[in-house]
Amino acid sequence: MYRLTDAQKAKVKDLLSQMTLEEKIGQMNQESVSIVGGFDVPFEELIEMMTDGRISQEEFEKIMSTAEQDYHEDDIRAGRVGSLMVQEPEKANELQKIAVEESRLGIPLMFGLDVIHGFRTVYPIAIAEAGAFDPDLFQRTASMAAKESRTQGVNWHFAPMLDVARDARWGRVSEGPGEDPYLVSQFAKAKIKGLQGDMSSTENYVAACLKHYVAYGACESGRDYNTVSMANSMLYNAYLPPFKAAVEAGAATVMASFNDLNGVPCTVNEFTLRQILKNGYKFPGFVVSDANAIRECVNHGIAADEPEAGVQAAIAGMDVDMGTQIYKNTLQEAVESGKVPMSVIDDAVERILSVKMWLGLFDHPYVPEEAMHRYDTLPTEHTDLAREAAEKSIVLLKNEGQILPLNKSQKISLVGQLADSREEVIGAWAMSWREKDCVSIREGLENVGAEYKYFPCCGPETDINEDEVAQACAYGDVIVAVVGELDSMSGEASSKADISLPGKQRELLAKLLATGKPVVAVLMNGRPLALKWEAEHVPAILECWHLGVQMGNAVANVLMGVKAPEGKLASSFPAVTGMCPIYYNHPNTGRPGGRSKFTSRYLDAGFESLYPFGYGLTYTTFAYDNMTVAETKDALHITVDVANTGGRAGVETVQLYMQDVTASIVRPVKELKGFAKVALDAGEKKQVSLTLEKKDMGFYKDSGEYVLENGKFCVYVGGNSKDCLMEEVELAF
Ligand code: GLC
Repeated sequence: MYRLTDAQKAKVKDLLSQMTLEEKIGQMNQESVSIVGGFDVPFEELIEMMTDGRISQEEFEKIMSTAEQDYHEDDIRAGRVGSLMVQEPEKANELQKIAVEESRLGIPLMFGLDVIHGFRTVYPIAIAEAGAFDPDLFQRTASMAAKESRTQGVNWHFAPMLDVARDARWGRVSEGPGEDPYLVSQFAKAKIKGLQGDMSSTENYVAACLKHYVAYGACESGRDYNTVSMANSMLYNAYLPPFKAAVEAGAATVMASFNDLNGVPCTVNEFTLRQILKNGYKFPGFVVSDANAIRECVNHGIAADEPEAGVQAAIAGMDVDMGTQIYKNTLQEAVESGKVPMSVIDDAVERILSVKMWLGLFDHPYVPEEAMHRYDTLPTEHTDLAREAAEKSIVLLKNEGQILPLNKSQKISLVGQLADSREEVIGAWAMSWREKDCVSIREGLENVGAEYKYFPCCGPETDINEDEVAQACAYGDVIVAVVGELDSMSGEASSKADISLPGKQRELLAKLLATGKPVVAVLMNGRPLALKWEAEHVPAILECWHLGVQMGNAVANVLMGVKAPEGKLASSFPAVTGMCPIYYNHPNTGRPGGRSKFTSRYLDAGFESLYPFGYGLTYTTFAYDNMTVAETKDALHITVDVANTGGRAGVETVQLYMQDVTASIVRPVKELKGFAKVALDAGEKKQVSLTLEKKDMGFYKDSGEYVLENGKFCVYVGGNSKDCLMEEVELAF
C-alpha cells in the first residue's frame, strides 16, 4: 500500500523547501536514453521520425546499431532528471551514483520499465491470465515480477494495464484483463497487492503504474491511438472503475493515455486528471505521461507548440514528462512568466519525492551486488508459478467427440511453425526474458512423454509446405495444429482490420481435416480471433494465447490430460471481424437481437458472440440447480448447487451477474458482480454461495453521481455470461 509516515512526509517537505526551480522541474523529467552519433534526439523522437517517414526502418536500425546511448549523465549531475528506463543493474547503479553522490541534493532516481506480465519469468499475457478468474494467482505472479525486476534495478513497473477493451481489432487488447469492469477491477487490486504489498524489504516491492488513464481501449474502430468519444456515464460505469479500485488499493503512480477523450487529450485533461483522479479519488501519487505524449498534443491540435503543450500538461495535473524534454527545456520559463503557478510544480514534485521516499530509495538507492544474479537461473518456484498461471489460463472452446484429452498410445502429428517456437510463447510487451528459459509446445510434448512427430507445414506469414502436410496427414492418429498470431501481431501499434486467422492457416486446417483424422487446433494468439469457419469445421479448439516461458509444458499437460483446462474467456470472441466491438455487458436496445429481421443484428452474422465472456469448457461437465436468493439489509445472498456430471474431476468458475431491469438510464443486460472457483470430483455436488452487496448494485449518472434505484433486478448464476439460472428480486434501497 502506497502510504507515507509522518516522518517521511516531513522529510519530503524539508527537501522540497531546499530545491531550486530547475531542480524541481528536473524531478518532473523522465529522460529517455538519447541516440547519439548522427542523430542526437530522444529515442521517442527517433521513433517518431521513423513513423512519419523522415527516416526509413533500415536507417533507424542502422542508427540503433551504430549509435551510442546517452543517459544524460550531465543532466543527472545537475539534478535535471528524475527518472529513467533501464534494465541492467550495473547501469542503474552507475547512474544512481551520479544522482546520489554528485548532485547537489542527492535525490535518487526512479528506474521504470514495462513489466506487464513478468520480468525474467514471463507468465501469460493479461487477457489470458484474467481468464483464470483467480485474484490470488494475479497477486503471486505480480509479486514474483517485482522481486525479479528489483534485482536488475527496476523499481517502477508501467503496469498493470487496466484498459477495459471491447474491440479485438485493437492490438493492445492482449495487454489488458478483458472487457468486464468488475473482473478488470479484481485484477487491478490483486496486481497492486502483488507489486506493492510485500514491504518486508525494498527488494520485494516496486511502484505500480495504472495505465492507460483513461478509456484508451475505446479507441474508435479499434485503431490504436485513435479518438475516443463517450458519455460520461459510460466512462464512469465501464472504464474508470478499475482505476478507482486500484487507487483505493494504494497504487503509487498512474500513466495517462495517448488518446483524446471527448475532444481533450488525456495528457492535458484536467477533468480526468485533477477533477476525477486527484480530487475525486484523492489519488496521492504522481501521474506520468505516456512516451512522447506531451509532444503529441501538438499533433492532436490542442496546443500550438511544445511549450504550450507543456504548460497545458502541467496545469492539467501531469506530474512527469516521459521522454520529450519539454518540461526540462520550457517549464522554467513558463513558471517565471506566470503561465504555470509554482504551486503546480510544488504539488507535482512533492508527489514524486513521496513515491521515491516510499520506495526506500533515499536509504537504499543501489542494487546490492549479491542480488544482481539471483535470478540468472530461474528458481523452480518461479517456473512452477508460471506454469500454474499458464495452465489456468488455457480455455477449451470446443471438444466435439471428446477428442481431448489425448493419450500416450496415440501417435500425434504436431503441425505448425508456432509449435516449435520458443520466442513466440512470450507475447507482446515483455522485455527482459531469455530464449533459454522458454519452453515451446514441441518441447512440452517431449517433456510429457507424448509420441509425436513434428511437421512445420505453415506459419502465420508463410506458405503451406504441401510435402510436410502430406507427411503430417500420413503419420499421426491425431493431428495437433498450432495456429495463431506472431507476438508482433498484437500489442501496441498492432491493430488489425481482419482478425481471422492470419495467412494460410485456415487453408492448412482444411487440408488436415480432409484426412478425416481428428484435428485439434491449438491457438497461440494475443487477441480474440474471428473463428466462424474454425468453429464450424474443427472438432477441438484449445485457446492457449501467449502463455509465457512455461507455455510448452502447460499446453502439453492440458493436451495430454495431466491437467484439465479451467480457463474462461475474459473477452468475447466475434464470429467475424465486422461484429467488433462486441461484448456481453451491452444495453438491450429497443429491438434486442433475435431471429426477426427488424432487430439489432447482422443479416450475415446474427448478433451473438461466437464464444461469450466467461465461457470455457473442461474435460467434464457441470450442472447448476436449486438457485436461491435471500435478501438481508445490506446484501443479496445467492446459493446454487453445482454438480460434476461427467467422468473426470474439474474446476468450474461459478459466475454471478445482475441486471438492473428498469433504470433512469439504460443498463447492461448483464453485469458481472462476483465469481467463485469450485473443484469437483466426478459425480460430486457442492452448494456454492455468493454475496452481492446492495451498495454495488448501482450505477453512475452522467454527472458522476452514483445512484441506487429501486425496482426489479435479475440475478444470474452460471458457468458463462450466456447460460445462466435466473431469479428476479424487487429492491427498495
Ligand atoms: C508506450 C506505451 C506504454 C509504455 C510506454 C513506455 O508507448 O504506450 O504502455 O509504458 O510507452 O514504454
